[in-house]
Amino acid sequence: MAIRKVGVIGCGLMGHGIVQVAAQGGFDVVAFESDKGALDKGLGRVEKSLAKLAEKAIEKGKPKDKAEADAKAAFGRIKGTLDKRDLADCDLVIEAIVEDLGVKKKLFAELGAACKPGTIFASNTSSFPIGEMGAASGRAERMVGLHFFNPVQLMKLVEVVRSSATSDEVFAEARAFGEAVGKTPVACKDTPGFVVNRLLVPYMTQALLMLERGDASKEDIDAAMQFGCGHPMGPITLTDYVGLDTTLSILEGWVERYPGEQAFAIPAVLRQKVKEGKLGRKSGEGFYRWEGDKKS
Ligand code: CAA
Ligand code: NAD
Repeated sequence: MAIRKVGVIGCGLMGHGIVQVAAQGGFDVVAFESDKGALDKGLGRVEKSLAKLAEKAIEKGKPKDKAEADAKAAFGRIKGTLDKRDLADCDLVIEAIVEDLGVKKKLFAELGAACKPGTIFASNTSSFPIGEMGAASGRAERMVGLHFFNPVQLMKLVEVVRSSATSDEVFAEARAFGEAVGKTPVACKDTPGFVVNRLLVPYMTQALLMLERGDASKEDIDAAMQFGCGHPMGPITLTDYVGLDTTLSILEGWVERYPGEQAFAIPAVLRQKVKEGKLGRKSGEGFYRWEGDKKS
C-alpha cells in the first residue's frame, strides 16, 4: 500500500475520529484545523477516546502495559497543525469540514495547488457530489469519497465513493485504507447520500415531521424504533447525535438540487432549532439536552 502519511482536515465530530482510527491503524497523521480551540478540543477527544478504548481492552484481558503503550503510540503518531503547508507531502488527505459545498470546493482547489502530485484526495461529505470536489481540485481522477460513520471509533462501515472520473488505482488504494483502519468498506457510485444517508436521512426527516404533526412524543418515537426495530437509538436522538446543522445542510443541498424529490423535505422544526443555535449533542441541546455524550 502506497499510503503512509494521512492528512485530516477538520477535527470536529467526525474529523477527530478519523484522525484517531488512522493513527490506531499505524499511519502518520497530520490533523489540520483552521481554529486553535477546535484543534485542541479535537485532540483532547482523541486522547480521551483512546484511554476509554484501552480501558475496555484491559477489561477484556489485554495486558495493561500493552494497552496503555498502544494508546500512547497511536497518539504519538498524530501531529496537530494550523498550517496547511504541513499537508503538502501527505499520501492521502481526507476532508471533514462543515457540510457546505462552496467551502469544500474552495478547499480542494487550494489542496490541488499545494499537495504533491501523488496525493489522493478524499471527502467525508454526507451528501455532496465527489465529482464536483474532484473537478475543483484539478485532479478529479485522484478524488474519492471516504464516508465514515459517527462515532468513527465504533462504527464499522466506510462507504468508498467513486465518481465517473476516479481512477481504478485510487479507488483500490482508498478501499485498502478503509480496511487498514479496521472498517468494512462498501463501494458506491457518486449519488446523493450514497447508500446509508439516502435511506437514513429521509427516515430521520419523517420522524421530525411526525413530531411536528403531534402524532407522538419524541420519547415515544425514539422508543418505538429502539424497541420495535432494535435500533440502538431512535431517530430523534440520532438527529441530535449527527448534529442538527449538518442534517439541515444535507437536506438543503438536496432540496436545491432535486426540488421534485419528495423524500428530501425539510421539517420546519429542524430549521427552527438550528436558528436558535440548538445543534444537538455538540451544542448541549437539540431536541434533547446533552451532557457530553449522554442525554441528561
Ligand atoms: N470512543 C470510545 N468509546 C466510546 C465512544 C468513542 N467515541 N463513544 C461511545 N463510547 C463508549 C461509551 O463510553 C460506552 O462505554 P461503557 O460501556 O464503558 O459505558 C460504550 O461505548 C457504549 O456507549 P453508550 O453507553 O453511550 O451507548 P450505546 O450502547 O448506545 O452505544 C453507540 C453507543 C455505538 C453510538 C450506539 O448507540 C449506536 O450505534 N448508535 C447509532 C449510531 C449511528 O447510527 N451512527 C450513524 C449516524 S449517520 C452518519 O454517521 C452518517 C452521516 O453522514 C450523517
Ligand atoms: P463539525 O461541525 O463537528 O466539525 C467541522 C470542523 O471543521 C470544525 O471543527 C471546524 O472548525 C472545522 N473547519 C471548518 N471549516 C474548516 C476549514 N476551511 N479548514 C479546516 N477546518 C475547518 O462537523 P462534523 O459533524 O464533523 O462534519 C464534518 C463533515 O463530515 C461534514 O461534511 C459532514 O456532513 C460529514 N459527516 C458528518 C457526520 C455526522 O454524524 N455528524 C457523519 C458522517 C459524515
